[in-house]
Order: sequence, then structure tokens, then C-alpha cells
Amino acid sequence: MSRKILVTNALPYANGDIHLGHLVGYIQADIWVRYQRMRGHSVHYVCADDTHGTPVMLRAEKEGLTPEQLIDRVHGEHLRDFTAFGVAFDNYHSTHSAENRAYAEDIYGRLRAAGFIDTRAIEQYYDPVKEMFLPDRFIKGECPKCGAADQYGDNCEVCGAAYAPTELKNPYSAVSGAKPVLRTSEHYFFRLSDERAVDFLRAWTRGTNASGERRLQAEAANKMKEWLGEEGENKLSDWDISRDAPYFGFEIPGAPGKYFYVWLDAPIGYLASFRNLATKRAAAGEMVAVEDYTDAGRAAAAGTEMVHFIGKDILYFHALFWPAMLKFAGFATPSQLCVNGFLTVDGAKMSKSRGTFITARSYIEQKLNPEWLRYYFAGKSNGTMEDVDLNLDDMIAKVNSDLVGKFVNIASRCAGFITKRFEARLGETDAAACAEFAAAWTEGRIAAAYEERDYGRALREIMRLADIANQYVNDHKPWELARHEGKEALLHTVCSTALTMFRDLSRYLKPVLPALVAQVESFLALASMDWQGDWAPLPAGHAIHAYSHLMTRVERKQIDALLEANRESLAPAAAAAARSAKDAGATQTSSSQQRHAEKQQHAAQAAETSLPHIGIDDFTKIDLRIAKIVDARHVEGADKLIQLQLDIGETDESGRAKPRQVFAGIKSAYDPASLVGRLTVMVANLAPRKMKFGMSEGMVLAASDADGKNAGLYILSPDSGATPGMRVK
Ligand code: MSP
Ligand code: ZN
Repeated sequence: MSRKILVTNALPYANGDIHLGHLVGYIQADIWVRYQRMRGHSVHYVCADDTHGTPVMLRAEKEGLTPEQLIDRVHGEHLRDFTAFGVAFDNYHSTHSAENRAYAEDIYGRLRAAGFIDTRAIEQYYDPVKEMFLPDRFIKGECPKCGAADQYGDNCEVCGAAYAPTELKNPYSAVSGAKPVLRTSEHYFFRLSDERAVDFLRAWTRGTNASGERRLQAEAANKMKEWLGEEGENKLSDWDISRDAPYFGFEIPGAPGKYFYVWLDAPIGYLASFRNLATKRAAAGEMVAVEDYTDAGRAAAAGTEMVHFIGKDILYFHALFWPAMLKFAGFATPSQLCVNGFLTVDGAKMSKSRGTFITARSYIEQKLNPEWLRYYFAGKSNGTMEDVDLNLDDMIAKVNSDLVGKFVNIASRCAGFITKRFEARLGETDAAACAEFAAAWTEGRIAAAYEERDYGRALREIMRLADIANQYVNDHKPWELARHEGKEALLHTVCSTALTMFRDLSRYLKPVLPALVAQVESFLALASMDWQGDWAPLPAGHAIHAYSHLMTRVERKQIDALLEANRESLAPAAAAAARSAKDAGATQTSSSQQRHAEKQQHAAQAAETSLPHIGIDDFTKIDLRIAKIVDARHVEGADKLIQLQLDIGETDESGRAKPRQVFAGIKSAYDPASLVGRLTVMVANLAPRKMKFGMSEGMVLAASDADGKNAGLYILSPDSGATPGMRVK
């Protein structure tokens, strides 16, 4: 029976570039879609940009654009990147669209009518300068636990503590720098804690899709159990779905100045993109019955499916809020969630300083073949939520040995003889060899592996068959037959047989390597191959086209150039951008689970803390000098500072020693008297800074642990022999 499936991919945020991490999930979905279509199933495959929320609003402002201008530009960039990697959506739409507004209002209205919407006043931080409420990630301050400075409003990257922004010490707005004030405002909530929602979600978790497959992978089902608690327990809390103006999003009907929180209308964007697709198709005379997929009753009757491909950081949104919203608005609920793990590169989190935060664009610009990555990601996909490591040397090895060395090699060793010696026409095939090869096929196994998204297993099976085909070529050595009189017929047969095997391999690789296999189809003069047609050997007399090289080897130097192109030395700015890119606008009123969900997203992509490399030139800009502490005293009214006079060999006009005055935050560790007479190291060319207590004309160096508190403070001492004013290099 033919399946009717609506497949979606998570909607990427409209304020960041597509990178290789994103591509894991998009490539996995695209392979599955291509496979299903080859099987003769009907698939609609849609995606869109996720455009709403505070980060988009602020970024547009920074770039001097309207949010609409920003999201328009990004839409084009994202679509271009997906297309380059062969991710072929039927429609790539936007959450800032008429369809999405209509669906969001409709779903909200139905939820309200069903008693699922509540309002309640909440208190949250407000930026009095920028005149806006601040999402957690836009409030910074000192960690309430360890005191580390400049921590975000939801958790501390130094000690890992989680807290509410109101707990931060000395909070400030990351937007304006102003001290935020607490303000009360009315918010709208989706009543996820309603018994009906809890009961429904329990049942939904256990469900299966149309092929009897589990709706959730084992790990996802376990997460759900954890979130839902034991039978009879209710651990869910209501979900804050509104944000106050100014906000880039849809205003809530009947609630002026209140907007739908970005995560409310983001998944609705799946439906909006699908509706938009149907409109485009209708204009071309083709009807797509949207309600057969979206309406609960009609979907059940029509047996349609809705399958969402998402990353593990957004499971919470897709497994709790989304199905519950759909259910109680009378919409069809998801048949299946396909959750992918996170990408690491060479075993570590993607890093801008190492150049492993690789954008899709740079990969294309560096002229790497997108199908190398598709093949590698497919080989690493096993249908679970485990993280996926892109090991660059391993990728080179796999592509070169499997694709170039095994697969393409079959054609490149045989095709030339057919064109040069046999006027490009195939001969009889070797019936016994073909039968043996066909018998080795475990088509059902390959199909099951594709169905379960265990593409690694599918590819291992296909490569085993490629080995058999290569063995056949090696055994018959066409290059030797070609040198012997009277072996023409055998040469013809061997090459025709090998090309038949090559055709079969191509067919099974097609979901993973659509561009390469399209080239194969044109070189072998075949109609587009699917999974159903007959598998008879290519017939004698079949004319093929001249073989041109199908795929080149990957060279390490190409990978190095790619890393170089992505290496950024401006880590702090980049890190901040990466962090705020993930912020979807949580507030301190979030329930603990919601907070958890948002935090998971942040943690998933938080930029690394190690510093980027600098060149020696950067280092030599710092004038480090041996300094003698000639005086040290407490500072009246300062509980952290010691006032130091540091001799670095400088004199005034009259030749008298002229020490530098430096206020150093080392009082917790040193008694001033013990410092006098010591040698230490100072930064002599730090711009002088006017402090409350006087000018500070440099800085002394001190060692401490990451947060500067727990393990004490240690100033440096040179070995004996060093004298004041010596340069430290
Ligand atoms: N806008 C939300 C999704 C809304 S869906 C209604 C979002 N956007 S995102 O741009 O941050 O991520 C898009 C997809 O890429 C998500 O599925 C996310 O999990 C996935 N990934 C983002 N970074 C990733 C890795 N480093 N590795 C693997 N997947 C990653 O989340
Ligand atoms: Zn901390």
C-alpha cells in the first residue's frame, strides 16, 4: 500500500547561517524522503525559516534593516545552502507569512474555546532604556553561586549553576547595559498541566505510525517518561506563550501589545509551508488535499502521516507542546518524530577558533563536493539520537576508499572499452555472474535499513556488494583481455556485466547520492531509477554515453583550506553571536521544564570557552615589564583593592624614579605589607584608567581559577636576577 507522508525538517532560525551541524538532520530527512519516493510512496517535504522573536528583531536593528528585510535575505541564503547540499524541499516557506498567521490564530482560537488558555500576571525584568522586557539570555550579571562576572540570566558557564535572572547579582541588560527593573505584565499560558493534556501525551508517547513503527525512538520515549513522570503523576506546568511588545511576531487576537512567543508559531510553520505548497500546486493544476494531513478526523480516514525530523535539543517542544496543541485544536498529531544527535567535529564541539564551525556556504565556496558530506553523514547515521562525529581524516578515507576506490572505480575501469571498442553499445551479460550478484542482494535488508534511518547499515551492505562487483572485474581483468586477440567477446561481456552491477549499486545509493547517480543515469542512458522497476541485466545493444569522471578524491589540503576559511580569531564576538542566535526569548516566568528545554538548546550550541589562537604580533603588542613593588596600601572604601606603586625603571624629567600607580584586586589574597619590596610582572601599556580612587596606570598579573575566587589568587615572581623595567617576552 502506498503511504502518504508529510515530512518536515526543523525550521532553522532566520538569524544565523546554516552550518554542518544543521545539515545532519536535513540530510537525514532528505535521504529518507528520496528513499520513500523511490518506493513509490507519496511524500510532501516542507520546511521554512523560523523568523520571529527577540534575536531577529535586535539583529535587524543592528544591521540597520527592518526584520522583514533581514528575514528576506536570510531566506534566500538558507534555501541556496540547502539546495547546494541536495536537500530538496518541495517548499521552503517562512513563519512570517499569511498562512502561518492564519493557522496560529485558528489554533489559538480553538485552544481558547477548549479551555486551554489562561492569563496570569507575572513579574519579569524590563530594560528601562530600551523599553522592553528582557529574555533570560539578554540579562547578564554575576553568578549568584560562584560570583563569575558576565553570566547569562539562565545559567552560569563557569560553574554550571542554573538560576532565574532575578537571582543574578548586579544584573544589567545585554541590550543597553542598563540596570533592569522588575515589572509586572499579563501573560498568556497554554495549560499543558491540564489532565487532558497529560493523559493524551502518555498515550501519544506509546503510539506507532502507519507502518507500525514506534512514534518515538527509544531514547526519546525515555525522555518523555522522565518529563511526564509516573502514571497518576502530573509533572507538567503551563507554558507561557505570550511576549510583550516590542516583539517581532504575530499579535495575539484580542490582546493588543501581546505577541505569540516564537516557539508557539514556529512548528505551526510546518503547516503553513504545506498550505503554501498546496496553493502553488493548485495554481499549476495539481490538487493537494491539505486537510487530509492536518485535520484529525480526515487524516485518520485517509491514513496520512506527519513525520518531523528534528535535533535532540528541540525534542521537548516537539514531544510535549506541539502534539498537545494540535490535539486540543482538533488537528492531526505527529505520526513520528525522527530525532538526530548533535554534530561534533574531530571529537569536539564545533569551534570557531579551530575553524570547525563550518558553514554550508564555505564548504561550497571551497569547492568541496556536497555528496562527500552526504555520504559521510549517511554512514554515521544509525537512527538513534546519538551524537554524530565528523572525523575529517575518516571522512577523507571513507569517501576515497568507498566512493572513489570501490564504487566509481567499477565504471571507470569498464566504460572506456565499451565506448572505444564496441561503439558504445553493451553486449551480452554473464548470466551466471549476474545471477550470483542478484542472489547476494539483500534488498529487504537494505530497504529496512533505509526505513529505520540506519543509513550506516544500508551503506555497509551496499559496499559489501561493491566488493563483489570489484572482485568480478579483478577476476576477469578487462585491461588484459583488451590486449589479447580473440578476447573481444569476453571483454564485451565482462564490461557489460560490470556495468550492470554498477547500475544496481547506483540504484541503492541514489537516496544518499542523488547528484552522482543522476550523472550515472545519464552516462548509462537510463530513465530515472526507482526501487520498483525490474532488475534485469542491462540488455545487449543498449547504447551508453561516453564516461566522464564521476567523482574526484578528497585531498587533505582541501579540508585544511576549509578549516582555514572558517577560522575566526574574534572568539568573544562570535561566541556571543552564537549564543544569542539560540535565544528564543525565554523569560524568568518559564516553567522549570520549559526552562530546561530552552537551556538544552543553549547548551547545545554554546560557544566553547577556550581562547582562539593569536599571532606573535598580537602577543608582542602587550608590554610586559618586571616591576618592583615600592609601596602597597589598603584603599579606603574598597574591599577588593590594594593600591600599588610599581617601579619599572621610569623617571620624571628631573631623573627621579617615577613609579606607576596601579589598583590591583588582590586584597583577598595579600596583606599589603608583605608585598613591599617584591618583584612581579605588570602590563605597562594598558591604557590608564580613572578609578574612583585615582588613576590606575597598568595591571599586575595574577593567576586564579576560572572564576577568580575559589582557588585563590597568586601574583607572579621572576627568577632572581631580573631587575625592574626588564621586558617580559
Ligand atoms: N528554530 C528552531 C527550530 C524550530 S522547529 C519548529 C531551531 N533552529 S536552529 O537553527 O537552531 O536549528 C535547526 C535544526 O538544526 C534543529 O533541528 C537543531 O536541532 C539542529 N541543529 C542545530 N545545531 C546542530 C548541531 N550542531 N548538530 C546537529 N543538529 C543541530 O532550533
Ligand atoms: Zn557560577
